[in-house]
Amino acid sequence: MSALQRPTFNKRWMPVLVIAAIVGALALSFAWAAGLVGGRTTTRTFLGDSLQHFEPGYRRAHGKGICFAGVFRSSNAAASLSTARVFAQDEVPAIGRFSIGSADPHAPDASTATVSMALLLSADDRSQWRMKLNNAPYFPTRDAEGFLAQRHAFEPDPTTGQPDPARVGTFFEKYPEARKAVEYKATAPWPSSFAQAQYNVINAFILLAADGTRQPVRWFMRPHAPFHGLSPEERARSSRDFLFNDIKKRVAQAPVRWDLVLQLAQAGDPVDDPSQPWAAERQQVVAGTLEVTSVRDQREGGCRDINFDPTLVPSGIALSNDPVLAARAGIYSHSYNARLREIAFGRATDAIGQQEHK
Ligand code: HEM
Repeated sequence: MSALQRPTFNKRWMPVLVIAAIVGALALSFAWAAGLVGGRTTTRTFLGDSLQHFEPGYRRAHGKGICFAGVFRSSNAAASLSTARVFAQDEVPAIGRFSIGSADPHAPDASTATVSMALLLSADDRSQWRMKLNNAPYFPTRDAEGFLAQRHAFEPDPTTGQPDPARVGTFFEKYPEARKAVEYKATAPWPSSFAQAQYNVINAFILLAADGTRQPVRWFMRPHAPFHGLSPEERARSSRDFLFNDIKKRVAQAPVRWDLVLQLAQAGDPVDDPSQPWAAERQQVVAGTLEVTSVRDQREGGCRDINFDPTLVPSGIALSNDPVLAARAGIYSHSYNARLREIAFGRATDAIGQQEHK
């Protein structure tokens, strides 16, 4: 083709091309934000590969749950450690959710040893404190990628039905700290009631005092009800929803209570590693008592549409540099957006998707 025959660019198309480029870039950024395109970020990896057995409209993990409401009564004992209003206000309204660890919202209660509490405290200065707590005492690995590596390592081999020992070995070489969580899980007693479990925050936070002091802290909810572990026989005999029936019955009879206990770190304690518990003799402060006074189905009890993101803390509490804590914010937001979108577009099952209108 000679130079004379070469097609020439008509400048009149320039504005059209610019507009098309802008529209294309916007469409791509929306698709990226919705998780439809893009690299395999940690969030997508967790929700795409690891937590894919969920039902539309339900949480991608801890799908089976029940809402609760109640009140947090501050003891005032933590007010000198943090300026957060919740530690000084006499009574703070509480809304929360009990759940089991399984992603399957219809799983039998005896299918997992993990029981959990999510909590949102709303103080009278309009500050909110959100948290999620598990009955496990610590996280298996020092980072979130380790959690994913553990899931892959322990996936049963299709030929033997058992985890591949070589893969498990490689995992423990990279994450030796995970041995104690695996051993703990194998021997820890299974809970027989939500009311009797101790719920642990696991990640560390920093309390900020009025004089500027920064105190690294972890906390747990210590039940007033004495613990009774389930024997394997009791587990085998247990009914499908025994934990949920039990908590409904207990709360109908009387409020169920937990003390909010702060564990204060000392210099040198591993603040940013959730796989390392601090020594049991570290100073503890009972910041107050949570009183659960009612429970309701998660479809209608007000907790369905809450993202109990633990990084949403009030002023007076700051985040530590724990990488698992940081990773969780994105993971929860992704799960929350996806399940609410499914409900909004009518893709959720009636059990979770329809609010009761009264
Ligand atoms: C990398 C690690 C983790 C991953 C991938 C993960 C994943 C998830 C996902 C996807 C949800 C559903 C969230 C929603 O839709 O609102 C969830 C809920 C939950 N997670 Fe995690 N999680 C992790 C670590 C932890 C840790 C360390 C704790 C304990 C302190 C925890 C406690 C909970 C609780 C209690 C719920 C249920 C919350 C509710 O009832 O709304 N998770 N998790």
